[in-house]
Amino acid sequence: MASLQNNITPTAPLILLGCGKMGGALLKGWLENGLNPDAIIIVDPYLKGAKKQAPSLQENAFFESLRQLPSGLSPSFAVLAVKPQMMDEALDDFKNLKTDHTLFLSIAAGKTVDYFTNHLGGKAQIVRAMPNTPASIGMGMTAAYPNKNVTQEQKEICAELLGVVGLFDFVDDEALMDAVTALSGSGPAYIFHMAESMAQAGEALGLSRDLAKKLAAQTVSGAGALLYSSDDDAAQLRINVTSPNGTTAAALDVLMKEDGLTKLMTEALKAAYDRSKKLAL
Ligand SMILES: NC(=O)c1ccc[n+]([C@@H]2O[C@H](COP(=O)([O-])OP(=O)(O)OC[C@H]3O[C@@H](n4cnc5c(N)ncnc54)[C@H](OP(=O)(O)O)[C@@H]3O)[C@@H](O)[C@H]2O)c1
Repeated sequence: MASLQNNITPTAPLILLGCGKMGGALLKGWLENGLNPDAIIIVDPYLKGAKKQAPSLQENAFFESLRQLPSGLSPSFAVLAVKPQMMDEALDDFKNLKTDHTLFLSIAAGKTVDYFTNHLGGKAQIVRAMPNTPASIGMGMTAAYPNKNVTQEQKEICAELLGVVGLFDFVDDEALMDAVTALSGSGPAYIFHMAESMAQAGEALGLSRDLAKKLAAQTVSGAGALLYSSDDDAAQLRINVTSPNGTTAAALDVLMKEDGLTKLMTEALKAAYDRSKKLAL
């Protein structure tokens, strides 16, 4: 976190705009990873909730609106973590601040670089990122796209800022952010639904609802943890637990048939991808 500490300081602070679920998860990660609390400014109209997320910050780190910040403040980073529908209003208030050297890091779904450029001007340095909910337990996956004004150093700091809540990667084409949204952004819900489907199928085989839910939830969590900690990829881990003509093979024959899970998942991701594109219009 050395570059974070060198580049985000009380005189060149980081403004976190929106300290809800995702903003709060990021804040927790930054503080745990040694970012100077005096270099963080939280702006959120729901002050009580924001303070709960960061009890270690001084009272004077919290503001209800950007308009309350001292004029002439020159933030090094502005992390935009408000709901997309609040973004217009939120960006307007940056006019009072000195933002020539500010990197705007947005995690708002569907808000494009063009959208931010229209509000902040063509010289604005913008990174559009898409995290996912496991970020709240440090197991997130975030992919991001930087506009052409972003420096290599700023990219490295963004990777650190977002890396505190899981894995992080840049994409080199903004159009890919819709695919990222469809795969990892919305993906946790697909896996939760898989646990629901497995539990229902277990119930149909005679297990009680409670036991079926427990077996399904622990199986999904355990398999995820194994995939995370193993050097093998998902395909190899599947092969490792599939004996020829065994029970797993019998189930996989169904899941892996021509119109099985891969076809369904392809259709599902395409639907999310199309929706993401539409939301950006
Ligand atoms: N949660 C996810 O899984 C997820 C995944 C990927 C991306 N995202 C993105 O992350 C962003 C935040 O989502 P979230 O789930 O964290 O939402 P959230 O929990 O509702 O947090 C948003 C916070 O911003 C505050 N806020 C509203 N207007 C503001 C303004 N003008 N200035 C400063 N703060 C303001 C809200 O206060 P009030 O409650 O008083 O309105 C709230 O505390 C969204 O753009 C979303 O697309 C979320």
